[in-house]
Amino acid sequence: MSEKLDLQSPNIVNENVAKIAALFPNCVTESAEGLAVDFDLLKQELSDAVVEGTKERYRLEWPGKKEAIVTANLPTTKTLRPVREDSVDFDNTENLYIEGDNLEVLKLLQESYLGKIKMIYIDPPYNTGKDFVYKDNFAKDTQEELLESGQKDENNQRLVANPETSGRYHSDWLSMMYPRLKLARNLLKDDGVIFVSIDDNEVHNLRKICDEIFGEQNFVANIIWERAFAPKNDAKYISDSHDHILIYTRSINDFAIGKLPRSVAADSRYKNMDNDPRGPWTSDNLTVKTYSPSYDYQIQTPSGKIIKPTDGRCWFTSKERMQKLIEDNRIWFGKDGNNVPRLKRFLSEVQSGMVPISLWPFKEVGHNQEGRQELKKLFEDKGYFDGPKPTRLLERIIKVGYANDESIILDFYSGSATTAHAVMKLNAEEKDGKRKYIMVQLPEATDEKSEAYKAGYKNICEIGKERIRRAAKKIKEETGADIDYGFRVYRLGRSKMQDVYFKPTDF
Ligand SMILES: C[S@@+](CC[C@H](N)C(=O)[O-])C[C@H]1O[C@@H](n2cnc3c(N)ncnc32)[C@H](O)[C@@H]1O
Repeated sequence: MSEKLDLQSPNIVNENVAKIAALFPNCVTESAEGLAVDFDLLKQELSDAVVEGTKERYRLEWPGKKEAIVTANLPTTKTLRPVREDSVDFDNTENLYIEGDNLEVLKLLQESYLGKIKMIYIDPPYNTGKDFVYKDNFAKDTQEELLESGQKDENNQRLVANPETSGRYHSDWLSMMYPRLKLARNLLKDDGVIFVSIDDNEVHNLRKICDEIFGEQNFVANIIWERAFAPKNDAKYISDSHDHILIYTRSINDFAIGKLPRSVAADSRYKNMDNDPRGPWTSDNLTVKTYSPSYDYQIQTPSGKIIKPTDGRCWFTSKERMQKLIEDNRIWFGKDGNNVPRLKRFLSEVQSGMVPISLWPFKEVGHNQEGRQELKKLFEDKGYFDGPKPTRLLERIIKVGYANDESIILDFYSGSATTAHAVMKLNAEEKDGKRKYIMVQLPEATDEKSEAYKAGYKNICEIGKERIRRAAKKIKEETGADIDYGFRVYRLGRSKMQDVYFKPTDF
């Protein structure tokens, strides 16, 4: 007997498109003919100059998008200089604190950390109309004095306000985010994951560019975090109580979600209504939508009633297996043996840990006020930084991101360094946890009238570093855990200054 030939040849074009998608997910999109390569964007990925081209396709467009791609691909001329005097345990620590614009820093990290980062958390400017947005100078820095430090300077100011009235309000924000997210993706491990905090001002645009950069299939969830503990009664329409946290993986099939410890509330949903020796249980529907005639049969309840699935549904299993389940007392017909049957699911048999849900209430992960109080407690009750996240929120993110063992965790909008604090807390909880962090923060000048400035914290990096020192001391005193409390500080500088070129991994 001749073997049947598979006459269907593989669709080589589709396979090639998939290969392009693996390398440049942003360049594969929907066209009138179906999935297609966006050659304009692909050309752009392969060119240092802005490429022209206009063809209708499904994508988010804004003036400056191609420049943003060029910005991401341009090499950096900057270097990282070690700052020993600000570091703690410089020679032994594996944690990094990097001062500078994160675009340049992300480029520098490409070399040593490509595909090595397990988890990224970022909390970028939300574009509320009051934020300062860092303007990337596409036309390359001709004025050498442009401050890499990002500190305010009357002449060379690159941190610019982005008011809602600006004709480029969304465009400028998107152009700022796009190259940074692209560079961030390269750093992720195959099982790596990124969490991005945002609010309703830009969540729709962020979702679009993340779909493009990470690939739609790598979207995991849009978490709703209840950030406010009380409504604002002076809100014009609705008092906004939530933030979004978008989650994307580098490669969805390689990623596993971190389960959360079972809560008392979840366990209390399990009862033991028939004193089953296997302990408490909860019950589940026995029918399914996918119809199969052999799974469509009658079941007789203990009280004698005949029950058949309705609405085109059928039972989830065969008649024989159902009979075995009934004999094993795994089917519940209600107290009087007269109800539609349901499957008993025993607490003792459910997987350890709960799948996280997409609503994160402040009772579980803290609210904005908690973040503020935590920071104040570390700094003699002074509010030196606006809007720090609560450490409980970051602990939850790290757990859900499954950043365990020796995972490297990156936060390139690190602000007051809540992420570093949460990493130390989790490591200490395990007594000798080995997660490492990389914090990146622009030395954005603090306002001369602010309490922070008056107390000597001239920029946000000074606050971030001191927070880590103080949090480390506190955790050490409270737990005595044997973890890495140190961090090595690097500052972004011009390579023109003929500094020795240091890569973080050279140590
Ligand atoms: C919303 S805050 C982050 C707060 C942080 N999650 C916390 O809990 O403290 C955003 C931070 O990003 C910093 N930032 C803005 N643009 C930056 C850039 N281009 N590079 C590095 N940091 C930047 C700002 O200075 C600000 O401190």
